[in-house]
Amino acid sequence: MNCIIKNITQLVTCSGFSAKHGKAMSDLGIIENGKVVVSNGIIVFVGKTEDDFPIDNPDDYEMIDATGKAVLPGFVDSHTHFVFGGYREEEFAWRMRGDSYMSIMERGGGIYSTVEATRQTSFEELKFRAKRRLDKMLAMGVTTVEGKSGYGLDKETELKQLRVMQSLNVEHPVEVIPSYLGAHAIPKPFSENGYINFMLREVLPVIRQENLAGNCDIFCEKGVFGIKNSRRFLSEAQGMGFQIKLHADEIATTGGAELAVELGALSADHLLQASEQGIRALAESNTVATLLPCTAFSLKENYAQGRKMIDAGCAVALATDFNPGSCFTASIPLTIALACIYMQLSPEEAVTALTINAAAALGRADTIGSINVGKRGNLIVLEYPSYRFLPYHIGMNCVERVLPYGNNIVNINSYL
Ligand code: NIG
Ligand code: FE
Repeated sequence: MNCIIKNITQLVTCSGFSAKHGKAMSDLGIIENGKVVVSNGIIVFVGKTEDDFPIDNPDDYEMIDATGKAVLPGFVDSHTHFVFGGYREEEFAWRMRGDSYMSIMERGGGIYSTVEATRQTSFEELKFRAKRRLDKMLAMGVTTVEGKSGYGLDKETELKQLRVMQSLNVEHPVEVIPSYLGAHAIPKPFSENGYINFMLREVLPVIRQENLAGNCDIFCEKGVFGIKNSRRFLSEAQGMGFQIKLHADEIATTGGAELAVELGALSADHLLQASEQGIRALAESNTVATLLPCTAFSLKENYAQGRKMIDAGCAVALATDFNPGSCFTASIPLTIALACIYMQLSPEEAVTALTINAAAALGRADTIGSINVGKRGNLIVLEYPSYRFLPYHIGMNCVERVLPYGNNIVNINSYL
């Protein structure tokens, strides 16, 4: 809870309290020979090692020497589906053979297959597996993760997924922010309209009442939820007090990015097929463009146009999209490498995209995502002296220590 990290060769603060757009994404607010003090889990000092910061009870503080190391804010993985039952390893093989993601879903596999498995998995088993997944994320420097429901579709299983996340948030060092994604697929025997009515009348009020999620998401996609129904669902959810997010323009161009902006969504995610107009709209808005390069990689699709979006002035975030189907990896190192190599993000932009901009994609840029006085002491120490090792050390974990909320977890290998 209390620590002083000093002699930090490169302190990468990512300083800020809101999303960074366009060129501002390159500014990492670096302090050389830096020092950070965390008290009761909150950052109370950020500066140079030689700066004076008197402390009354130094014995209560853990001292960490970060000579030769870079220190960054903990990563924020702002888009995952990490609570699920079963696996879909056979689908990976089918896709490599040439089947498309949507054709597998249309024949009852894909999301529907995980829905079946998740309905049949007990709360305890779901929680046990999800905890193991959080452990691995923590070891890669993730201190906050967003997790979506959406593998129940019925009320009972959706609430079970959200309750798993609620209880892990209390017990695990990684902070878990749940989003309701009941609108992930349409379950039998519902029509699209009928299912939206069911979610609005039967499920969202309970989530609100029990405070199980503050965000509401939808898979707005050709053949899943159309633009009109997405607009109706999301605006009603907003009326009930939810913040909204969208899976937008992933497989087909449907105008999901434009809808996200129109409704003032926290983020529009995927965006592989976002139109020029959609990109322009995002650039002029406060909606974060969240890109998920591991999904494009796993589906062998073309990557979202990250470079173009940043040049247009968008605030871009990166996330893993960890899920059992389209993207069975929670790898932060791979996400960074793919973003830099295939989306032409600079190392600086990739770091901003996984910290302050990812925090903004969760509506939390005021409390996490950067090293600023008053924010949560979520810090990571790299094995190397510069953030530039993050994309360069391709697919490898450079994180040596994680300090979620100022707690020093030295032996991260025990979480692997
Ligand atoms: O973000 N595209 C929709 N939802 C997830 C995949 C879920 C799944 O395949 O289980 C995604 O890629
Ligand atoms: Fe997703």
